[in-house]
Amino acid sequence: MKSSTAIAHPNIALIKYWGKSNITGNIPAMSSISLTVDVLESKTKISFPKDLNEDTWILNGSRQSSLERIKMPFNELKKRSNVRDACLIESDNNFPTAAGLASSASGIASLVTALSHALELELSLQQMIELTILGSGSAPRSLFSGFVSLDVAGDTITCNTILEGNQWPLEVIICVTSSDQKEISSRVGMEISRKTSPLYDNWVDNHQKDFQTAMAAIQLRKFAQLGAVTIDNCLKMHQVMKTSQPSIDYWNKTTHAVVQQVQTLQARGREVFYTIDAGPQVKIICNSDLTEEVVFEINKIPGIESIVKCGLGQGARLLNA
Ligand code: PMV
Repeated sequence: MKSSTAIAHPNIALIKYWGKSNITGNIPAMSSISLTVDVLESKTKISFPKDLNEDTWILNGSRQSSLERIKMPFNELKKRSNVRDACLIESDNNFPTAAGLASSASGIASLVTALSHALELELSLQQMIELTILGSGSAPRSLFSGFVSLDVAGDTITCNTILEGNQWPLEVIICVTSSDQKEISSRVGMEISRKTSPLYDNWVDNHQKDFQTAMAAIQLRKFAQLGAVTIDNCLKMHQVMKTSQPSIDYWNKTTHAVVQQVQTLQARGREVFYTIDAGPQVKIICNSDLTEEVVFEINKIPGIESIVKCGLGQGARLLNA
């Protein structure tokens, strides 16, 4: 038992998951593909202060009333060790939390990496995947670098890097249109959609086709093909959300304006595409030679809070290994 610190980056889903097949095990109902970004990061420090009476989670400097979302992977890891001392978990994100920027994925991936080391558990990568998914269905993807696939076949999950970032160094421009926490968490939202959206079954049934199209596009580095399937998959997910009861709409006015600007750039022949997760932020993907032009255009849009330029990042890792 020792102190340990790990960092992990958020991942941006190109082929999304929205809906679970098994709520207790937190198993996604479909496979997904993402990009692990750099620049944005979650850092988690684990320690065992002598005077601490109970397991305590401090997120971005504020003490949480319960372990909430981290409870399942945390309890499972503690169960596997014989450490009974109270544990202090200190997590920090250098970007807005719970605003559709995948802070849960990077947070959980950094937690599982740091805690398994602190508890001196020798876990295989497959065990790490199974533990992170307990906290968030997208978290295993943040264990890996570059382009990542998370393949779901029944209750069997595999997760891998498809291509490293330096094999296809795309850039991700994150347009923050509101850093407010979202009103409906993805966990709650996807359950509402599963139960009520008339489009949900179709979304699940046709998902594998998008997954395969994106896989092929990444392996062959076909930008236009990857862009088309990413946008189509994103819009389908947001239609499922909107047709849920109650309707879920994460977009704001600025989100719409950014999407329109991407369409204008595409009409000018620029190779860019976008995607949007469970929040109002737009992620624009392009080659590095276009980054400055895109940022220049997006900066003109009223309501933009900030723009973060990211490359592709590494998987979760220990800082004190
Ligand atoms: O990581 P979760 O379980 O909160 O859900 C992620 C949901 C989306 O970001 C909308 C899609 C995805 O595949 O990341």
